[in-house]
Amino acid sequence: MLQESVLIEKNEEIAPGLYFLKIRNEQMAGEAQPGKFIHINLGTIYDPLLRRPMSILNAQGETLSVLYQVVGRGTRIMTRFRPGDEIDVLGPLGNGFEIEDSGQNFLIGGGVGAAPLVFLAHRLPKKGVDNKFFLGMRERELLFIKDFLPEEVEFFSSHENSPRGEAKQVTDLLPPHLKTKKKTSLYCCGPEGMYREIAGLCNDCSDFSIQVSIDRRMGCGVGTCLGCAVKVKKPPREEPQIVRACVEGPVFRWQEVNIDGT
Ligand SMILES: Cc1cc2nc3c(=O)[nH]c(=O)nc-3n(C[C@H](O)[C@H](O)[C@H](O)COP(=O)(O)OP(=O)(O)OC[C@H]3O[C@@H](n4cnc5c(N)ncnc54)[C@H](O)[C@@H]3O)c2cc1C
Ligand code: FES
Repeated sequence: MLQESVLIEKNEEIAPGLYFLKIRNEQMAGEAQPGKFIHINLGTIYDPLLRRPMSILNAQGETLSVLYQVVGRGTRIMTRFRPGDEIDVLGPLGNGFEIEDSGQNFLIGGGVGAAPLVFLAHRLPKKGVDNKFFLGMRERELLFIKDFLPEEVEFFSSHENSPRGEAKQVTDLLPPHLKTKKKTSLYCCGPEGMYREIAGLCNDCSDFSIQVSIDRRMGCGVGTCLGCAVKVKKPPREEPQIVRACVEGPVFRWQEVNIDGT
């Protein structure tokens, strides 16, 4: 984990309210892994005080990129970053996805939350493996995510306002793909309700593993403020325990976080 002043190469609005930010730092890009995140200082001293966490969309050579949605004051400040500016970035933080040895990989993303799955798509094994990306959208503009994917990854999308008979939710896309005898790994990024629905669909699929990225408001990002608590149950321990999404997560096994088993 590094704390560095990094150079901004690009900060472009690529769809309304959605920005692509590219920064240059060789060591940070080298340490980046799918599912990890960076913690961005907004360049102000006390207000807003806290950094903003952003998942790594991709890392190549000396550069690292993120895709962010403008939702509040902090992300609005980020839109004012200009190429050539230097910003203070902490990272890469968190644990990232564990890439498994499977016959099929399903990458399932809801909205801009799908960003870390783009990076993962580039790191998955390609030979003899089916890699499928499922994107659920509220805004059709998010379709540009497809352009960031390696060409061998099959892409499927749903849209909340699709006409009757077409997939509205990302989970509507999955059933035909779940009828498989191949060992399958699911990597999911989106709201927790989406994870619950996915797990419900996979109830009869014993050879499936499900990893999910858990979203928590983050203060420090490095394990000291305990603001990002997640309750988990990890065998062999029988009692639930509290862990930190910024250090022990943000990626968890669904069975570990779904402690009620619902
Ligand atoms: C590990 C991690 C990775 C993330 N990766 C990305 C990413 O790749 N791209 C991206 O656009 N966003 C990502 N987020 C969410 C992003 O950090 C927040 O949207 C951002 O911090 C909001 O800052 P703000 O000051 O603009 O909004 P605020 O003024 O703080 O909040 C505005 C609105 O955004 C909501 N919000 C704030 N924080 C979060 C959060 N953590 N998750 C969801 N909603 C939030 C608030 O509830 C509020 O409605 C990630 C969050 C985490 C924890
Ligand atoms: S954000 Fe401070 S402990 Fe996780």
